[in-house]
Amino acid sequence: MAATPTGDVDVDSEAVSASIVGASGFAGGELLRLLAGHPEFELSQATSREYAGKSVGSVHPPLRGTDLRFSQPGDLESVDVLFTATPHGVTMEHIDEYQDAAELVVDLSADFRLDTEAQYDEWYDGHSCPGKLDVAQYALPEVNRENLAGADVIASGGCNATATILGLYPLAEAGILDGADVVVDVKVGSSEGGAGGGAASSHAERSGVVRPYAPTGHRHEAEIEQWLGTSVSFTCHAVDMVRGASATCHVFPDGPVSNGDLWGAYRGEYDDEPFVRMQAGGSGTYRYPEPKAVAGTNHAEVGFELDASNERIVVFSAIDNVVKGSAGQAVHAANVALGFEETAGLEFAGLHPVGSP
Ligand SMILES: NC(=O)c1ccc[n+]([C@@H]2O[C@H](COP(=O)([O-])OP(=O)(O)OC[C@H]3O[C@@H](n4cnc5c(N)ncnc54)[C@H](OP(=O)(O)O)[C@@H]3O)[C@@H](O)[C@H]2O)c1
Repeated sequence: MAATPTGDVDVDSEAVSASIVGASGFAGGELLRLLAGHPEFELSQATSREYAGKSVGSVHPPLRGTDLRFSQPGDLESVDVLFTATPHGVTMEHIDEYQDAAELVVDLSADFRLDTEAQYDEWYDGHSCPGKLDVAQYALPEVNRENLAGADVIASGGCNATATILGLYPLAEAGILDGADVVVDVKVGSSEGGAGGGAASSHAERSGVVRPYAPTGHRHEAEIEQWLGTSVSFTCHAVDMVRGASATCHVFPDGPVSNGDLWGAYRGEYDDEPFVRMQAGGSGTYRYPEPKAVAGTNHAEVGFELDASNERIVVFSAIDNVVKGSAGQAVHAANVALGFEETAGLEFAGLHPVGSP
């Protein structure tokens, strides 16, 4: 599936140049991997303050043998597309500089995902350039690809939000979430915390855990509610895997719902989606969505079961947080914005068998 339009980037030139700010991190490393294999992009710069001058392969072993070296973020050259994979707060501080350097900025952080300054006041520590919130387009292509064509700034959706929204979006569109109570429990891998991690992310502390974190008030709740148009009760657990986000959503609808209604809603939204697979029951080991089945890929798996006696729908959604939940989603969004094939550079399958993803 190819989107139409192109904005200001000249996609008829030989290759579209792309740089990455924050390329030494986990999401930046995945961006490097994806862009290196992308048929339309040519990598220009990859920044890291800590590793400036060192080869990208010295930080990301799968990229050993690549010529590219890290540069300083202050030495950005002009480029067609700039991907920014930096901690919260960095892109909003440097957005003018980034837009001077590139026709299209694709940000992986939360800096431009919410619509209003009031939301940033409520969920974050405010916003330093609220005037740009209108310019940015949120990117979860399955939900709003029509907003991305020709965008100047794209805010790639958050990982837990992506898993949750993909699980619930067909129900929202079908009106099944209207008046429903929704409880979401997400289990996440350690790579969500970034390469820097922290004491709680050390191997000794993290190994073997099923650790509740952000039992209430998780920031992604704002993003989820913004796109589903309903409130959700959201809790996260850190679990013993490296990659992956798995959302279990309990929906208590306001009226009767049948299996046929549910299949109609999910098939209607996802039958033509290149990166969403329905996985609901059947036989075999991987009967419902789980992160291991999508590790390393840009695919999401979504499934559900109707608990008729309890008037509950239980929805499962699984993604790889550093691909579909960040770098892959950002590349998918750029593909749409620039009018490339949506699946360009993202069609590969994962590995099986693998250990903890
Ligand atoms: N990890 C995930 O699963 C995931 C999923 C969705 C979205 N995200 C978002 O993506 C962003 C990156 O996440 P991550 O997990 O990759 O983090 P990370 O591993 O900690 O990487 C952060 C990167 O940003 C660079 N950086 C830090 N401060 C900077 C500054 N002031 N100016 C320029 N570069 C700076 C770091 O390199 P130097 O310090 O060497 O410059 C590093 O390359 C975050 O906003 C995160 O919320 C992450």
